[in-house]
Amino acid sequence: MTGGVMTGGLWSIVLELPYKPAEEDRQRLELALEPFGEALSSFEIDDGKAWKIEVFGETKPDRRLVDAALKPLGKFKAQIAPVPAKDWVAESQKNLPSLSAGPFFIHGSHHTGRLPQNKIVFEIDAGMAFGTGRHETTRGCLLALARLAESGQKFRKPLDIGTGTGILAFAMARLFKVPVIGGDNDKDSVRVARENAALNGLKSAVRILLSDGYRAAAIRNQAPFDLVCANILANPLIELAPSLAKVLGRNGRAVLSGLLRNQEKDVLAAHEAQGLELDFRLRLKEWSVLVLKRRVKMAGAKKPAAKKSAARKSAAGKTAAKAKGSKSKTAQKKTAAQKSGRRS
Ligand SMILES: C[S@@+](CC[C@H](N)C(=O)[O-])C[C@H]1O[C@@H](n2cnc3c(N)ncnc32)[C@H](O)[C@@H]1O
Repeated sequence: MTGGVMTGGLWSIVLELPYKPAEEDRQRLELALEPFGEALSSFEIDDGKAWKIEVFGETKPDRRLVDAALKPLGKFKAQIAPVPAKDWVAESQKNLPSLSAGPFFIHGSHHTGRLPQNKIVFEIDAGMAFGTGRHETTRGCLLALARLAESGQKFRKPLDIGTGTGILAFAMARLFKVPVIGGDNDKDSVRVARENAALNGLKSAVRILLSDGYRAAAIRNQAPFDLVCANILANPLIELAPSLAKVLGRNGRAVLSGLLRNQEKDVLAAHEAQGLELDFRLRLKEWSVLVLKRRVKMAGAKKPAAKKSAARKSAAGKTAAKAKGSKSKTAQKKTAAQKSGRRS
């Protein structure tokens, strides 16, 4: 980087040529401008009739030095200007390539290619809300939902907590052809998810609400749900375990994501303490998705011990004592899990 003034923002040098330069000339121009910034891009514009070279840097380029660098190459005048403040992460993500996840195909608004006929297609841009399908936590949920659908289970009332862009709510609405509620505690996400629902033709099928966990009155009033997705993080999932257990229907499934493999045990324990158990799990890189269901109660499991003859009573007593011991262990486990839930 050559001399200049630090501004805290970005600066750009833009050189537009009203023609497509020869390869050699283009390279010379790029080499001359490259030292003035940290990133250079060079591309055709105006349907290939013209060319643009852009250099971005954190320091204001010195006009005299830029002119001096270009002078030996001809009569060129580059524009130097501060770059307007932007969310650069969102900007760079906007152009992410489309992707497939199980039966889903997700693309941004910039996608101009053909859309697959045999997939459920969503248009979702990266921006203020999380959930373009690229992150393992989202992808894992999409794959888990696809597996539930493949198993033939029918879901009539799904709920998506921490909906972000709305992607999982849309996935459930399309997979199971039912209305879905999506909730998020972030106002921007709620706005974005509503916009995305309209964009994807799901405005009337997906209702997006501002909700901290399961607190929104509309969610409490609609419970029980037979399918709940929650891609949040391990600690909020643990904290929300009792509320999830309250809204999940008897044969329901809960798809939990946002946890790392090494957090599985704690998340599972907190939910086991609420009467849920693991149905299946998916692992994508270091991330894990847990699919839970209600634990089936084994009715009358201890009854035979009461019918033992006197001779067997002492053995039965031991069994009962063992059973009692294991129950109190379960109780301890519950307390530990509840504690870990509260702690987090
Ligand atoms: C990891 S993103 C998941 C977005 C999307 N569901 C996906 O799978 O890609 C987590 C989302 O949960 C929201 N969130 C975090 N804690 C929450 C809570 N307690 N209640 C509701 N939403 C929450 C965040 O605002 C964020 O939009």
